[in-house]
Amino acid sequence: MRTLAVTAGKGGVGKTTLTVNLGLALKNLGFRVCIIDANFTAPDVALHLGFSPDTTIWDALKGKNHLSDALYEHECGLHIIPGSQDLEVAANRDIYKRLKRKMRKLKYDFIILDTPPGLGDDAKSALIPAKEIIVVATPEWPSLANAYRAALFASDMKKHVIGVVLNRATVHELEPNPVMIENVMRMEVLGKIPEDMSVRKSIAIQNPVVLSYPESAASIEIRKTAHLLGGIPWKDQRQWWQKLWMILGQV
Ligand SMILES: Nc1ncnc2c1ncn2[C@@H]1O[C@H](COP(=O)(O)OP(=O)(O)OP(=O)(O)O)[C@@H](O)[C@H]1O
Ligand SMILES: [Mg+2]
Repeated sequence: MRTLAVTAGKGGVGKTTLTVNLGLALKNLGFRVCIIDANFTAPDVALHLGFSPDTTIWDALKGKNHLSDALYEHECGLHIIPGSQDLEVAANRDIYKRLKRKMRKLKYDFIILDTPPGLGDDAKSALIPAKEIIVVATPEWPSLANAYRAALFASDMKKHVIGVVLNRATVHELEPNPVMIENVMRMEVLGKIPEDMSVRKSIAIQNPVVLSYPESAASIEIRKTAHLLGGIPWKDQRQWWQKLWMILGQV
């Protein structure tokens, strides 16, 4: 079982969007996937998926309860443990250690944890249950600098930082490109998700972009990243004119 946490070192760069859609893309590849909203600061996985949970991670962490007590199955088949806002708990390392222990009873190929924004104790503590870390950043130096800081503290915590996913990328000539970023950050770029209105629309209708706009540029890049993580070679099945259309759409 692989346990991954999605972090960023910065708020609003696309952690939850990536967590949910990467989870779905991996599930669609045949993996058993569970998403855990480990963001006690600003939990919003359920909002991205359009449901309001009666029970949350907090209920599952209490006493002898199991994580499965708060497990939801989305209509698409994805399993989710929704979050709950509790600022008292947010930086409590013992809570995350308990989560890690309880996660061992789950049987999945991938557990993906969404985590709080920033570089504070809450963001650090939320990495405790995971073995592997994915860092998200927009392709701008301030965002990349914070992603780098997040990767540093993850490494200090003996986590394996798999790489960085660039989100909201454009084709602007001044934007740092993946080769530059790999050189500066010394980290693999696992994906480059474009700025795509389909993502905003999918969030508005609370239906992840991989489901609602499967052929959008963002969905295709997220699916590519899922192939990379799952070790399944990617074959682009689009026609040349579809690829050209996508590139033109990003200009
Ligand atoms: N590829 C994209 N193209 C266009 N808009 C995007 C893209 N990715 C994310 N967004 C926009 O950015 C917003 C923030 O994304 P998201 O909630 O995933 O960020 P976050 O890092 O989880 O935020 P927080 O730090 O608050 O948890 C989304 O609501 C959406 O409007
Ligand atoms: Mg979020």
